[in-house]
Formats: sequence, structure tokens, C-alpha cells
Amino acid sequence: MIGAKPARKRPSKLLDNLVYGLVWLACLAPLVWLAWRGFTGDLGANPIETLIRQLGVWGLRLLLVGLAITPLARILRMPRLVRFRRTVGLFAFSYIVLHLFSYVGVDLFFDLGQLWKDILKRPFITLGMGAFLLLIPLAVTSTNGWVIRMGRATWQRLHWLIYLIVPLGVAHYYLLVKADHRPPLIYAAVFAVLMSWRIWDRVKRT
Ligand code: HEM
Repeated sequence: MIGAKPARKRPSKLLDNLVYGLVWLACLAPLVWLAWRGFTGDLGANPIETLIRQLGVWGLRLLLVGLAITPLARILRMPRLVRFRRTVGLFAFSYIVLHLFSYVGVDLFFDLGQLWKDILKRPFITLGMGAFLLLIPLAVTSTNGWVIRMGRATWQRLHWLIYLIVPLGVAHYYLLVKADHRPPLIYAAVFAVLMSWRIWDRVKRT
């Protein structure tokens, strides 16, 4: 048809798989690096604290990367980027599960009574636990089967929980640092930018 836009060429399956592989590698790299540092005794004077902290910070970073994918896909006009959201989100969840397990297992020796006391007495643990509990339904319903079962609109509404989880994670971080509050404030600023883009995009479309 004259005047019709030429159809965009779909990337080959090989290229698709290659990009997928690279995303997996990028998400796994911090864990492999951390394991290597643990193996070579390079985790510093307090290896357990370093392990817990690094897993937590990578969990938070990946949550933010997941939130950045939609704006990036739109700005760069690369809609196919959106399919990496699930992979990045599940990696974020995995880092946070490991973060929780290294705290409960390695630091508390699975003393669940102590964990419960911490949840009640230490506000940063209360917030972290809140964020973790809210992440569980998102991880469980991340498959296509759940999108179909719940209907896209309900599924999407459930996944808006991420807009609560990330600030809870940032507040958890802010409360636990004693001296330099700049790192959690930087994460808060990144979250604010990503949310502002979403609000601006919504207003523009209405
Ligand atoms: C979405 C959930 C969570 C996120 C995003 C998160 C993130 C973080 C971050 C960014 C840090 C600080 C890292 C640094 O100092 O470089 C941290 C530390 C920590 N988090 Fe979490 N966390 C979460 C959930 C939890 C949960 C459920 C627990 C335990 C019940 C927990 C326990 C801790 C502990 C004990 C520390 C280290 C505190 C210290 O060294 O003084 N976190 N977390």
C-alpha cells in the first residue's frame, strides 16, 4: 500500500536469545562476584555484614532497574525491552530472598524468635520485612499463566504494589545507616525521577 509505514524488522531469534543471555549474565554478575569475594576471603573485616548489605543493595538496585525499563523502552522507542522486566524483577526478588536468608540464617542462626523481636523492635527490619512480604505476591504471579488467570487489569493493579515496595526498601536503608545518609537519598531520588516520569506520561496521555 502506498504511504504505508514499512513494517519494523523483527530481530532474529539468535539476537533475541543473545540479548536475553546478556541480561541474565548482568543480573547474575554481582552474585558471582560476591561469591568469589567470599571464596577468596575478600569480604572485609565483617564478611557477614558485607554479604547481607551487598545482597540488599543489589536487590534494591535491580528493583529500580525493573522500574526504569518502561520509561527507557518508551524514550528509546524500543518496546521489546519491556519483556526483560520479569527477569530483572525475579532477580531482584532472588537477591532479597538471599539477603533475608543470610540475615536469618547466617546472622541469627535461624533463631526465629529473635527475628520476630527484631521485626517488633527495630523499625528498619519492620520496613524491610513489610517490603519483602509485599514482593511475594508479585513474584508468585509473575508468570503468563497468572496474567491470564487474573486478567491483565487486575494483574497490573496488583503489580502497582512495586510503587510501595521500593520506597519501603529505601526507608529500610535510610533508617539503618548511621552516618552518611547520601546513598539511600540517591536511591530515593532515582525512584522520584522514575515516578515523576510515570505521572507525566499518564497526564500526557489523558
Ligand atoms: C524489599 C526488601 C528489602 C530491600 C530492598 C533491602 C535493602 C537493603 C539495603 C539497601 C541495605 C543496606 C546496604 C548497604 O548498607 O549498603 C540493607 C541492609 C540490611 N537489611 Fe535489608 N532489604 C530488604 C529486606 C530486608 C529484610 C526482610 C530483612 C530482615 C528481616 C533485612 C535485613 C537487613 C539487615 C540486617 C541489613 C544490614 C544492617 C546492618 O548491617 O546494620 N532486609 N537492606
